[in-house]
Parts: sequence; structure tokens; C-alpha cells
Amino acid sequence: MRHTSSLCCVVLFLIVPFKVLAEVDAATGLVNAPGFEFVKSQCTICHSGSLIVSQRLEEKDWIRMIRWMQEEQGLWSLGDLEEPILRYLTKHYGVSVNLNRRRKPLNKNIFSTE
Ligand code: HEC
Repeated sequence: MRHTSSLCCVVLFLIVPFKVLAEVDAATGLVNAPGFEFVKSQCTICHSGSLIVSQRLEEKDWIRMIRWMQEEQGLWSLGDLEEPILRYLTKHYGVSVNLNRRRKPLNKNIFSTE
């Protein structure tokens, strides 16, 4: 039994990094998940995906960003694609997605010199 569970661990360690790699599209840097194809085809023409990857916005601010590009930067109407694009952006590049997680502050007591 012990052998089986440690074998499972080894297999997991081998699979997990591949899974993480598979989720990000190498060409655009965008997460490869439902809606990705639309975002790739509509949003990586004028600039790279890295502008998207580095943003964290709520849905209303993604809408504002899209409207700004439509009014000022020549982005076309997204039509039926706007809804799945917004869903994708809010899910993967929304405010609750924090890729720069920091650890909790250290316990102050450990800095005491007394
Ligand atoms: C017609 C051209 C065009 C298309 C298509 C386009 N954008 Fe942009 N976008 C721009 C321009 C121009 C900028 C400003 C770039 C700069 O500041 O250097 C920009 C900037 C951005 C920024 C960065 C804004 C900031 O303040 O940092 C994000 C995020 C963004 N676009 C997302 C998107 C998304 C999502 C889509 C698809 C719905 C999209 N773009 C499609 C022209 C476009």
C-alpha cells in the first residue's frame, strides 16, 4: 500500500508541471481555456497578449477598456464574441486572480533583539 501511494506522488509530480505548461499558450502568453480562441483572434492583432496578461480588472472595467479601444484605438464591434471574451477576461484576468501571491507577513516577534 505504501508503495502505491508514493508511486502516485511521483506520478503527480511528473504530471502537474506539464498541466500548468499546457494551460498557457506559448505564442500569446494567454491562458488556454474556453474563450481563448476568440481573445486570440480579436485581441492580439494590434498588440501582444502580454498587455492583457498584465491586467487585473473587474468586468465593468474590462467593458470600459474595450469601449476605450473601440472609441479611441480603432477596435471594431465584437458582436456575439463580446460576451465570451468578457467571460474569459473576467475569469482569467479578473481582480480575484492574483498571480503575484505574497506570503503572509512574518511574525513580528522573530525580529525582536531582546
Ligand atoms: C484595433 C487595435 C486594437 C485591438 C484589436 C485591441 N486593442 Fe487593446 N489596445 C490598443 C491600443 C492602441 C492600446 C494602447 C497600447 C499602448 O498603450 O501602447 C491598447 C491597450 C490595451 C491594454 C492595456 C491598457 C493599459 O492601460 O495598460 C489592454 C489590457 C488591452 N488593450 C486589451 C485588449 C483586449 C482585451 C482586446 C480584445 C477585446 C484588445 N485589446 C484589442 C488597440 C487594440
